[in-house]
Amino acid sequence: MNLDCLRIQGGKPLYGRITISGAKNSALALIVGAALGEEPVVLENIPDNTDVHVIFDLLREVGVTVQSLDKGKWSVDGSTLNSSKASYELARKLRASFYLAGLLLAKRHEAVVPLPGGCFLGPRPVDFHLKGFQAFGAEVAIEHGCMIGKITKPQGTRFFINRSSMGTTVNLLYLAVLTPGTTILENAAKEPEIVDLAVMLNCMGAKIRGAGTDVIRVQGVKSLHGTDYSIIPDRIEAGTYMAGAVITGGSITVENVILTHLKPIIAKLKEAGAYIEEVDNGLFVAGPEIIRSLDVKTLPYPGFPTDMQSQMMALLTLAHGTSIITENVFENRLQLGAELKRMGGKIKVDGRTAVIQGVEKLYGASVKALDLRSGAALVLAAMAAV
Ligand code: EPU
Repeated sequence: MNLDCLRIQGGKPLYGRITISGAKNSALALIVGAALGEEPVVLENIPDNTDVHVIFDLLREVGVTVQSLDKGKWSVDGSTLNSSKASYELARKLRASFYLAGLLLAKRHEAVVPLPGGCFLGPRPVDFHLKGFQAFGAEVAIEHGCMIGKITKPQGTRFFINRSSMGTTVNLLYLAVLTPGTTILENAAKEPEIVDLAVMLNCMGAKIRGAGTDVIRVQGVKSLHGTDYSIIPDRIEAGTYMAGAVITGGSITVENVILTHLKPIIAKLKEAGAYIEEVDNGLFVAGPEIIRSLDVKTLPYPGFPTDMQSQMMALLTLAHGTSIITENVFENRLQLGAELKRMGGKIKVDGRTAVIQGVEKLYGASVKALDLRSGAALVLAAMAAV
């Protein structure tokens, strides 16, 4: 199948059952975190996607031993880490490549890591990461598009992250667990993926408390050992399939989900008129006859996730009435509005706000996925289009 181009024949309700994969963003943080150890870490429920394979390649490039053991089961052994330099060729492919900065500073006390690439969602700077590294005593500079960092005497620190940031929290956790003394991260991200990382690191011998709240306390340890760990299911993948049932007026059961992680998504889909019921190991979701309009604001967890905003925009193009979306995390994500308009959506975007006037039908058209989630949203819209 040519994945650069999908041809979708819409107009049929989505029915069935689906087992949700391991969380992409958890996998990326945990795979790199596993390399902090001095023994193999066996990770289960790792999804099979391009980002995961790029992160494996980045780790192999710095000497980490990565092996596939079984479907979704990988071993990551950080004891063979022997280089402090990541290549531009790989780093430019994804944002999470910058996790190597924290890994390398923590384990080798030096890092040369290109500024990251990834989906273009806006400027996506790394200033919080750099300030955080400096708080631990690192000297960092940006030269020729690379972060060059060195840390001679790492020391635990108290650091306030300017704005709740997933990536910054991940990178600073890597550094904190192997840095002598106590580190306190304030205004830390509270995403389930952060909790997953902290739980895995604690299984490896780290001393982390408070993950899931905005204050994380870490007592540094000398080294980390191996463990077996299974990562959490992907709340965004689950939410996307659920939105698929709602937008097409079908019904599906999503299996292997954690209900708590889905609460903000469930709340909005119910407000749109969906019927959602907890069943054995999952959720049953049925779409309404008429989708109701609503307002949604993206916020860090436990707010409504920006990674579900595009899918919600697609859904609301078919709602009865006017909806307003406020995108507080990645404003560029509202550019999807222009693509949905090609399909007949009535959307006005102004800065961080999109006003969506529901229409009765969407029509087939050639459209372009601007990033991962807008691609998913366009698939949803196409499934509902006539
Ligand atoms: N920010 C800064 N400076 C920084 C870091 C972040 O200004 O140094 C800003 C960002 O520009 C953004 C906000 O802070 O406006 C939050 O960014 P965050 O650091 O939380 O995002 P991230 O770590 O780059 C991760 C996910 C994204 C997800 C966001 C928000 C990974 C690999 N990526 O990105 O996932 O949207 O958190 O939850 O975990 C996706 O899966 O499609 C995706 C883009």
